[in-house]
Amino acid sequence: MMEISGATKVCGLIGDPVDHSLSPLMQNYYAQSTGVDQVYVTFQVKKGNVATAINGAYNLNVKGMNVTIPHKQEVMETLVHIDEDASAIGAVNTLVRDAHGYRGYNTDAKGLFRGMQEEGIIIEGKTWVVLGAGGAAKAVAYLLAKKNAKKIYILNRTLEKAQELSDYVNGYKNVEIAVPLLLAQWNCLEEDIYSVVQTTSVGMHPKVKACPIEEQEFYSKVETAVDLIYTPKETQFLKRAKQEGACVMNGLSMLLYQGLEAYQLWNPEVLVTDDMIQEAKALLMKQLGEA
Ligand code: ATR
Repeated sequence: MMEISGATKVCGLIGDPVDHSLSPLMQNYYAQSTGVDQVYVTFQVKKGNVATAINGAYNLNVKGMNVTIPHKQEVMETLVHIDEDASAIGAVNTLVRDAHGYRGYNTDAKGLFRGMQEEGIIIEGKTWVVLGAGGAAKAVAYLLAKKNAKKIYILNRTLEKAQELSDYVNGYKNVEIAVPLLLAQWNCLEEDIYSVVQTTSVGMHPKVKACPIEEQEFYSKVETAVDLIYTPKETQFLKRAKQEGACVMNGLSMLLYQGLEAYQLWNPEVLVTDDMIQEAKALLMKQLGEA
């Protein structure tokens, strides 16, 4: 049981909605298992109220926060510092208190990278395909570009957004490595083999039969398939890729490691052991009904 005293520090998640967040489970487990006197709760904050909320949180001595939809961009205006990843991605998901205000970080790209490393997935020198061109796709495309992917195809339902994200990647790298396409143009991919990250909400519970690209032929050239979705554990997208012998990874480890990165930003001196990380993963899976 967690003991709350007058000295207990508060961390939390601001967003809307927040009711189904798995972060409290994970963050409170880390605090308990590492012996840190800290609790983690959710704060529902309506769009437009983020500056007031951040100001209030700072004055309430809130130690750190995660930030989710719809505040990841707007929150940036309230911060005293923004780290390299967050400023490149243009979104903040973690706030760390300092003497003057909150510092902003983005742990999504790092979290995904750690999950991929754990699976032995190599980014550098390979051709990658990103399905989707929204906020999540931007963090993914940034990571792929930063870690020296050879080429990045951005496939989206709306070409304009794929073009925007490609321009962003090419601007960041100062080399033309990104190519925009419509999802329906997957057969224009010129490569013999590629890896794919699925960033759209297509296939997420409860519409588990949906898949952003239905044609099985697309999957025959997939070396590695990553889906950011973690409910269901295996999306149609991952099923199809697996059928063709691809290495597959779902979004649970990104969720796990972005949370761990945040916990360590709040508690840099604390050691989180591999056993604790595995236990946190097991707790998440149990909560998702997969244990
Ligand atoms: P997130 O922050 O999760 O990335 P987002 O910024 O709203 O959310 O982006 C959602 C992405 O999923 C977009 O690429 C969107 O495609 P559009 O740009 O065409 O809107 C994609 N998406 C959502 N629903 C989709 C669907 N039914 N079919 C194909 N793509 C879809």
